Amino acid sequence: MKPLIAGNWKMNGSLAANEALVKAMLDGLGGQTAATDMALCVPAPYLSQLQSLLTGSTIAWGAQDLSSHEQGAYTGEVSATMLKDFACRYAIVGHSERRQYHGETDALVADKAKVALAHGITPIVCVGETLAEREAGQTEVVVKRQLAAVIHAVAHCTSEIVVAYEPVWAIGTGKTASPEQAQQVHAVLRAQLAAATQHPERVHILYGGSMNAANAASLLAQPDIDGGLIGGASLKAADFLQIVASSR
Ligand code: PGA
Repeated sequence: MKPLIAGNWKMNGSLAANEALVKAMLDGLGGQTAATDMALCVPAPYLSQLQSLLTGSTIAWGAQDLSSHEQGAYTGEVSATMLKDFACRYAIVGHSERRQYHGETDALVADKAKVALAHGITPIVCVGETLAEREAGQTEVVVKRQLAAVIHAVAHCTSEIVVAYEPVWAIGTGKTASPEQAQQVHAVLRAQLAAATQHPERVHILYGGSMNAANAASLLAQPDIDGGLIGGASLKAADFLQIVASSR
């Protein structure tokens, strides 16, 4: 399985900045055949722009969230069908910023993962503990509960999801989980997937949380770390490409 390096731009970007960033990434890749799967998850208004910039390239694109509803009176929401109109391959679901600031529950995140799969979009399901939960020794309980909800909802499609372990205390803080800390949790998640699907090895388990050009290689060298979900460092072409190079 090729590693997967996915950028999460969060609420950053502009038409001009995106074009410069994506062109710098494509120039840096220089048309080489990719040994690593790559994706950029961008704010919904820019999906059309990314579609034009990336069609025919080795970089896929995706959204950062989607509605659990199909259509209708849900002001502000974006449906899976709309994402498909822009050929989205991925949608992040259950990012900790959505769980924290938008009150997303395990059940809602599971519904979103299910809807994404039903529309041929690969959900990148984020799980992760807060600092308080880690300090209380709750890390495994929390991530397993978060993943269990999704496994229950998607059932036999479990091998089609992507999981991202993102310790909340490591996101945007510059504090990365050590490779050993991350591997420990990834192994727990892999074992949980193994109980739910015959092909746990097909599921990418990404690490996310202050992954950068300097620390990526040691994290990606861990046996159960199959790639990265990159926030801040995905806004700089050179850093993102260095992480991609570290994954080979
Ligand atoms: P970060 O964000 O790389 O800026 O820590 C990762 C994420 O939240 O997906």
